[in-house]
Amino acid sequence: MRQPTILLIDPTHYDVSYSINPWMDPARWASDPLGMHRSAVTAFESLRTALLAAGFAVEVAQGTAGQPDMVFPANAAVVLDGRALLARFRYPQRRGEEAPFARIFEDLRLRGLLSEVSLLPEGCYQEGAGDCIWDATRGHFWAGFGPRSTRAAADAVSAYFDRPVVALELATEQSYHLDVCFCPLSGGEILYYPPAFTAESLVALRRRVPASQRIEATEADLRHFSVNAVNLHDQVVMTRTTPHLRSELGQRGYRLHEVDLTPFMLSGGGAYCMTLRLDRSSAGVSTAGEEGGEQAAA
Ligand code: ARG
Repeated sequence: MRQPTILLIDPTHYDVSYSINPWMDPARWASDPLGMHRSAVTAFESLRTALLAAGFAVEVAQGTAGQPDMVFPANAAVVLDGRALLARFRYPQRRGEEAPFARIFEDLRLRGLLSEVSLLPEGCYQEGAGDCIWDATRGHFWAGFGPRSTRAAADAVSAYFDRPVVALELATEQSYHLDVCFCPLSGGEILYYPPAFTAESLVALRRRVPASQRIEATEADLRHFSVNAVNLHDQVVMTRTTPHLRSELGQRGYRLHEVDLTPFMLSGGGAYCMTLRLDRSSAGVSTAGEEGGEQAAA
């Protein structure tokens, strides 16, 4: 079996020069662009080191000048069983990423790291694994929609991968992607920030996840971008976090690798959105969450 593999994008062309979510602060970046860039390169290296320590193999692809948000490859595609479904971005600022990312994925296919690269049907937006998160315990995707991805995209993802998708509507611009406020963990727990969801989507979530497996994040956890975490078995890679999450996850047996990702939080990103799992597989879904694995049209 292949080693768990993560795609990262080199931060050479990273900056914060526009604002398409409430966390983005171009003025703060502009106050010290060189210093900010230096810290971003350092933060990126710490993330790479933490991912290697957690047991991942890491592939680093080059970014493109003028497309600073390419450092968030979680938004570039949904990947499962070697098949990549390329994203369509809502904002014009990020649409220029689609062509370079298509080349990156094609290259990964030629190298045998993917078997197929496909386009989403026209007429919907879908911002990759940041808005479509595989739940290995329950055997379905959770798809965020509203601020970025459209509801119809959840059906397109379900049809392409032939897997159930539970769509969750995001209620705030602060949690503009699902991965900002929602993170499934290997033990079947879901770490999530309740105020990010509409009442209806909270019902859908809680119906599928028993209370013992729900970990409610606080506003401080969200602000630290710690819900945006990368998990492999008992290892969790995340931004420098809060006492609450250290103790909550520690008690459940998780080992945290905390990384200072401040320069990327200035763009509204944490550890998970800087990564894309290339080897995600639908095989070996455990029975722990079987009651939640029904064909879901929510
Ligand atoms: N500045 C980027 C944007 O607004 C940040 C993306 C972070 N990615 C994520 N999956 N949350 O699109």
